[in-house]
Amino acid sequence: MIRYSKTTRILALDNKSIGYAVYVNDAGYLETLYFGKRLAGYTDFDCVRKSGEFASPRYVVQTGKEEGYADGFKAACAPLEVSPHGLWDKRGAPLIVRSKEGSFETDLRFKSVRRLKGVPAIEGLPHAHGDAETADILLEDKNLRVRAHLYLTIFADKDILLKSFCIENFGRKAVRLTRAMSMQLDLPRADYDLVHFHGRWAKERDYCCNALTDGIQEISSNHGRSSAEENPFVYLKEKNATTDSGEVIGFNLIYSGNFKFRTLVTPFRGLHLLYGIDDEDFEWKLSAGEKFFTPQAVIAYSAEGTDAMSQTFHRFIRENLMTYADNCEYKPVLFNSWEGCTFDFDTDLILAYIDDAVKIGTELFVLDDGWFGARNTDAAGLGDWKVNEKKIDLKRVITHCTAHKIKFGIWFEPEMINFDSDLFRAHPEYVLGWGKEELSLARHQFCLDFANPEVVDNIYAQMRAFFKEYPVDYVKWDYNRTVAEHVSAAYPADRQGEIYHRLVLGYYSLLGRLTREFPKIMFEGCASGGGRFDLGTLYYCPQIWCSDESDPAQRIDIQFNTSIGYPLSCIGSHVNDSPVAPYSTKAALALFGTYGYEMNPNKLTQEEIDTLAKTADVYRKYHRDVIANGTLYHLRAPYEGNYMCMQCVSQDKKTSLVLFMNKFKELDVFRFVRLKGLDARKRYRNTLDGQVHTGEYYEKIGLNFSEAWMNEFSHALVLLTEVTK
Ligand code: GLA
Repeated sequence: MIRYSKTTRILALDNKSIGYAVYVNDAGYLETLYFGKRLAGYTDFDCVRKSGEFASPRYVVQTGKEEGYADGFKAACAPLEVSPHGLWDKRGAPLIVRSKEGSFETDLRFKSVRRLKGVPAIEGLPHAHGDAETADILLEDKNLRVRAHLYLTIFADKDILLKSFCIENFGRKAVRLTRAMSMQLDLPRADYDLVHFHGRWAKERDYCCNALTDGIQEISSNHGRSSAEENPFVYLKEKNATTDSGEVIGFNLIYSGNFKFRTLVTPFRGLHLLYGIDDEDFEWKLSAGEKFFTPQAVIAYSAEGTDAMSQTFHRFIRENLMTYADNCEYKPVLFNSWEGCTFDFDTDLILAYIDDAVKIGTELFVLDDGWFGARNTDAAGLGDWKVNEKKIDLKRVITHCTAHKIKFGIWFEPEMINFDSDLFRAHPEYVLGWGKEELSLARHQFCLDFANPEVVDNIYAQMRAFFKEYPVDYVKWDYNRTVAEHVSAAYPADRQGEIYHRLVLGYYSLLGRLTREFPKIMFEGCASGGGRFDLGTLYYCPQIWCSDESDPAQRIDIQFNTSIGYPLSCIGSHVNDSPVAPYSTKAALALFGTYGYEMNPNKLTQEEIDTLAKTADVYRKYHRDVIANGTLYHLRAPYEGNYMCMQCVSQDKKTSLVLFMNKFKELDVFRFVRLKGLDARKRYRNTLDGQVHTGEYYEKIGLNFSEAWMNEFSHALVLLTEVTK
């Protein structure tokens, strides 16, 4: 519910469990009074707003006098929704507007507030939807003809807040936004740990947990994509918080480009957070009458530890973010050709792959890179989205899939170009940064200038023509390099600060057009593995390839950590032929995601085929209700000891799957794992020892995984099913 009292000037937002309160002070700034568990009333904030001797004085030119604010506003340290810039407050403003005359001062003050039903649409950007209410707070700059709407959204059935801005130039002169972040959040305490997910290619999303330090810390990406180096999902946790106790506040951004999460522990021991598009190399010209929308920042609140926050994000992503119709439904068992044969295939080999892939339960065969243009190595072909008919008879491949009653999917990398391509020869100016003496290469490729709508239209026309000719059910959308030389020949000098953001807008515009026009095709995101695993992509793509690393030694961490912020239903995970662990182990791990394969299927032994087919059966039977739509519990993190354990429980609490995975060989140790989320009174049979126990037993005593001898990466996949008789 959202209420605003003109008498107390307090704006309160709450649902059944969380509350948020903002006070419009005498100066017209929005002071953040409260964020936490729901309160019975929202008037009594005496201790938070103590007026005192630090109240900020000012000299009023008209009266020639020194004046303070009657309500004791302290400009340097009062928790605010929108700090001004260029004044006494030095903590950092979320928005900075540069006037035509060159001043940076940005001083947005309250004008009015209205209540909107639902979530406001964010023009040109993916955004959330659902049962929510929004406070649309109108702010106006004291000096410039610039307005900002601060949208504060609260969900009815989830402990989620959204924050974003729409900045509008209602004057006659153009202004420049030199910072346009999505949110500020000020909290009156700073005794939190900051968790973020650092990484690199094939080692995405490493768990990093550090105490907030005095001064500024930044988690950011300037790679032009959300990146493998840092993920936009971060959280703060109270010092003693665990998976099921303590305060945890999670953050994410519905965006796929450069971002910055900046924490400042102030000298006053308060916390000042900014989150949004990275302001490095950002500048946006806002001409008269124009608006700029920032991406939505998503904030999840939990008073009960990290798993409650994680489950809130999972439900939010599934129910309020993804737009693909079947996102929570069953996702077919996928076979991808890449690791099996990379570029070295012909029609016969692919047909032979399909014949053997179906034996391990494949329901969707994906032909990865190498089918188009002159793409026989990674040095050529990107940009030429025409089937290389000398190499592959795609129609025959599709017919073969249909004969096997399985679906067919294909790989694209729409935002990239090789210099050895017809598109480059015809349009070198389509390359981002074109006009320079030298351009950086990665995998022999450049980024296309997706800031230029003509380039986006060209790729759209090529892809559309392909989809019209070839009936594909699935597309893997890759993005295999970092952006460099972010200069666009299509824009004048004074608009080059817009390019990073415009590249992302180009990505969304193409993906948006294609997903609307071909709603039956399921698009999976990918970027050198998991380099663009973010909420912007998930809006269009119900799953994202998690990492090119499928070897369980690293994969355990990657998958576990990814699943803290993102639901298992969107985590693309495949069994490959890495020699570190047996297929049964790799398959059990892949089951906790959207299950698939990448290997040479012609080389599998009968025993391996049986193992994989059996796991595919488990997936078919339980994926939708237990993994995709169930509740996930992180029972033991792989970095907390020598084993990892995760559990999923179906919504009706009748079925549960537990994955236990050992790391290094260890002899003679107890391994009791207490389960969660079961009905205490129901009785369940478990497949570990075949016994029947109550939910209470499993929660209090647990499952006993102790074995005298436990090898590297040995695992147990345990199914618990309710016993009614
Ligand atoms: C990236 C992807 C891989 C594969 C290759 C193809 O690295 O992450 O899965 O598609 O590109 O070139």
